[in-house]
Amino acid sequence: MGIRFEQSNQTFYLSGKNMTYAFCIHKSGLLQQLYFGNRLGDDDLGHTVYKTIRGHATNLPYTDRNESLDEISCEFPMFGRSDFREGIFAFNANGVRVGDFKYDSHSITEDKPKAEGLPTLRGGETLCVVLKNELHSLAVKLYYTVYEELSAVARRMVVVNEGEGSVIIDRAYSFSVDLPRKDYQSITLPGAHLRERQMCRRDVTRGVFTADSKYGVSSAQMNPFMALVGKNTDECYGDAYGFNLIYSGNFALKTEMGQSGVVRVLGGINDFDFEWCLGAGESFSTPEVAMVYSPNGLGEMSRSFHDLYRDYLMPEAFTKKPRPVVLNNWEGTYFDFNEEKLCDIIRGASGTGIDMFVLDDGWFGERNGETAGLGDWFINMNKLPHGFDNIIKCAHENGMKFGLWFEPEMVNADSELYRAHPEWAIHVKGLQGCEGRVQFVLDYTLPQVREYIVESMSKVLSANEIDYVKWDMNRAITENYSEWLQDHGKEFNHRYVLGLYDVLDRITSRFPHILIEGCSSGGCRFDPAMLYYSPQIWTSDNSDAYARTAIQHGTSLCYPLSSMSCHVSASPNHQTGRITSLESRTAIAHLGATGYELDSTKLSAEELAHIKKDISDYREMQELVLLGDLYRLNDPLEENLFAQMVVAKDKSRAVITVMKPLHIGNTCPTVIYPCGLDENASYTIRECGITVSGRTIQNAGLLVSFPYGDFATTVYHLDIVK
Ligand code: GLA
Repeated sequence: MGIRFEQSNQTFYLSGKNMTYAFCIHKSGLLQQLYFGNRLGDDDLGHTVYKTIRGHATNLPYTDRNESLDEISCEFPMFGRSDFREGIFAFNANGVRVGDFKYDSHSITEDKPKAEGLPTLRGGETLCVVLKNELHSLAVKLYYTVYEELSAVARRMVVVNEGEGSVIIDRAYSFSVDLPRKDYQSITLPGAHLRERQMCRRDVTRGVFTADSKYGVSSAQMNPFMALVGKNTDECYGDAYGFNLIYSGNFALKTEMGQSGVVRVLGGINDFDFEWCLGAGESFSTPEVAMVYSPNGLGEMSRSFHDLYRDYLMPEAFTKKPRPVVLNNWEGTYFDFNEEKLCDIIRGASGTGIDMFVLDDGWFGERNGETAGLGDWFINMNKLPHGFDNIIKCAHENGMKFGLWFEPEMVNADSELYRAHPEWAIHVKGLQGCEGRVQFVLDYTLPQVREYIVESMSKVLSANEIDYVKWDMNRAITENYSEWLQDHGKEFNHRYVLGLYDVLDRITSRFPHILIEGCSSGGCRFDPAMLYYSPQIWTSDNSDAYARTAIQHGTSLCYPLSSMSCHVSASPNHQTGRITSLESRTAIAHLGATGYELDSTKLSAEELAHIKKDISDYREMQELVLLGDLYRLNDPLEENLFAQMVVAKDKSRAVITVMKPLHIGNTCPTVIYPCGLDENASYTIRECGITVSGRTIQNAGLLVSFPYGDFATTVYHLDIVK
């Protein structure tokens, strides 16, 4: 049992493999946080609570003078009652914003209750603690699901208005955790389009630090992930706490170090431009946060997230099964294609092992370029006079299934949809809307818009044999408002996200056999909530092998390799102009759900033979990508080296991929130190023709040799000797 309530000291113990999370019911009725860290027994933790009378301190009337809430760690901290730090919740009941939420009851259930309208982790044993604010007839249900075999807890809350009148919610975060007085650093994943999720580490100091998105989507600019680590924590050693919001919209993650040195980390839906009117009897669900603790560095934290998402989040029908090797025509043709050209590209790749052809943007409406057609989800019969029939037939004849691109949340002004329903685009009356890639965003808060999209997509998906959908979203949201919300306009951003989940829920349940690949100009919406619907997401529009090393390195902090869609594209690369070898492009693209993004008719016979061999190699290593343990052997942002290793769960084999971006003449040798092997077993290293024990290779290291030139890559295959 991962959840235990100890009556004698009123303490809840939530325990996973290497983790304990403990809080108790304080004599005042508040929930007091006691501990989050390495696994403990069920000892009483009262002695760890710091009590002091500080000058200038305030305290609740029903706590001792030496128990100011500015010192006590609270499970549900709020402003206005002697805690002067950021709180988890803020409300407004006819102008009153202050109240006490006290313990009312709790229950532990075998099954995890479903969250209304929001994707969450699957899972079992769940604790629900109910707090009540009698003065304003508000109740809060705090849910905790423990993943015993991992070191993870999922947490979320539901606010219930039990009164007669409406209450405004100004902030409803998903979690707040106080960590003991230590020197912490935060790690976040900021970035931009084409350079998503670049790991960034900084000291946590006094004051508030916020990592957030206001883009309407979880965004490339900041991922909804934050880790807190000790100053000396590295990949293998030290404390690492990871927090990842299962949410695709505006979010905020904050740290605050208060006067006593305790660091509070908290977050959820961004309360910037947010409020929610909770009518009598209504409830509001926050997104869930996945919280992971590792006493053994960032590597173990990442592997816990990877296991958590593969076992409990990503769609079960696809996650652990071999993914199709995709051939996508986007960088091969852009908008310039017809049936013949597409069939030539399919035939060109025939026999290589590619088993999914994906037709990208440009097949619908008057979509001959960026300026028109979005929203008109019917085939452009001028461009494709036989519809998809011949293309699908050609794909099937050449051993490929057929996939299709959609951008279901968008509309061009030059489209039939916009001409018929200009009011369906997000807008503010009297104000000319901002454009992004010459397009507007559809107002997904409106049921009729969602209905149109579900029906028009369904029509195409039912009429054709389609096994794969690339779900794109190519701009941020502006004019964040919908008229029907009237003076509750600040509900817009969250309602948009709920609308998106509604559409995704309906499409995925209507077409359960279709694998959805998420995309948002590449990786501008790479978050756990999208992974709930799509087992893989196009990691970045930047398909350059070198640029991808930093992007994939950062992404792997919490997202598994198999969630990253990674394609081999043409060289020189279209985004960077960089020339890299087919070997290097392949090696980096094999660290994910692999595929190709090029015109196969432009490949030489030699290159096609190469690709055929590469795909068969990928099939051999794919199980590692899908199920294995990832070890990051170095940091490509700090060194002229990228090295990742994937090890089978049973440690029977491993693949190590190393890239040396810049070749340096007369340089020092490159040595890497593999991890995760069975120290007592022997391994053959195929490429070196040697057999050596796990202990030796992990301690003495592996001397890497690279082909001559820049961006050179070497891949090693290790097989256990039976
Ligand atoms: C986005 C995607 C690309 C491609 C184009 C099509 O940029 O990330 O992969 O699908 O849209 O317009």
